[in-house]
Amino acid sequence: MKRVLIAEGSEEMAAFFRAELPEHEILIHPPEAGGAPVDYMVVGRPSAGFMAARPEVKLILSLNAGIEHLLRSGEIAEQTPIVRMVDSGLAEGMTEWVLAEALAWHRNIRLYERFQRDHRWQPQAEKLAHERLVTILGAGALGTPVARHFVAFGFKTRVWSRSGRAVEGAETFAGNEGLIPAVTGADIVVNLLPLTAETRDIADARLFSAQAKGGFFINGARGGHVVDADLIAAVDSGQLSGAVLDVFRVEPLPESDPFWRHPDIRVSPHVAAPTHPRIAVVEIARNIKRFERGEAIPHLVDKSRGY
Ligand code: NDP
Ligand code: OXD
Repeated sequence: MKRVLIAEGSEEMAAFFRAELPEHEILIHPPEAGGAPVDYMVVGRPSAGFMAARPEVKLILSLNAGIEHLLRSGEIAEQTPIVRMVDSGLAEGMTEWVLAEALAWHRNIRLYERFQRDHRWQPQAEKLAHERLVTILGAGALGTPVARHFVAFGFKTRVWSRSGRAVEGAETFAGNEGLIPAVTGADIVVNLLPLTAETRDIADARLFSAQAKGGFFINGARGGHVVDADLIAAVDSGQLSGAVLDVFRVEPLPESDPFWRHPDIRVSPHVAAPTHPRIAVVEIARNIKRFERGEAIPHLVDKSRGY
């Protein structure tokens, strides 16, 4: 019987796995794992040494879309494949969060909340979606559905990716030389890139200063993409009117971090697109079955690219 080990798993998740993979033994670490070899490992953010202690594992299945922490751990053998989490729960969650924040900014909802506190009746010049330009950095499993929703709302939409992936109704930009052209004049920039050596610190003064004056920045990807001081300077100077950040270089965000107190930078605690166990387990079980039948598995991590 093949064994599946879930790092920091819950009983609820184990029950979902047992329903999807009745022929497999499902173990939770701790305390059930014991010393016997395991075939598959399901990991979110495993503690140090957890993966290194199981070199016999044939396939690692991530509960997260972003896997930079797994690669950085140095605990996974070069030949052991890693599958990223790509499922409808993440795509729907990220789409809802990004659109909610973008529409709130576009229609001045946060501003009117402030005005209400002061009993101020102060209508703003309201724009329509087709008068706004939105750029999505990343056209992958999350960037693509997000871009499609902006297109459906009528926003002028651009997507930027490494290979120039197209999204119907959006303008396509590719590669390093396409980055600044993609964000030039953008009212809203949404970051949905993986964190790699190439994308670290990508949201910097140069990028913010290319946006339309008074624009908005949304980070749903990773804190390491943003040069924090450059973002604060861009907002303080009025180049950007604000930003919303779901992810940070250090999480939980330390009490001393200036983002907590900035009046025009909103913070959420890494909740844009949480993994929904019931949906994720179906996807993972499907990939284990594909692996056992010798079929190709989608969304395998390319370790040389870092995503
Ligand atoms: P994908 O791998 O499906 O998509 C990544 C996209 O980024 C692709 O379009 C890729 O280009 C592009 N890209 C990668 N490197 C570069 C580069 N150097 N230059 C230009 N484009 C590049 O990832 P997902 O959409 O599934 O996830 C994106 C990220 O979202 C995750 O890595 C994670 O960090 C974050 N995330 C955050 C969550 C939250 O709750 N805040 C939840 C889930 C994910 P190409 O198409 O050419 O390969
Ligand atoms: C993810 C995340 O990458 O939760 O899935 O951020």
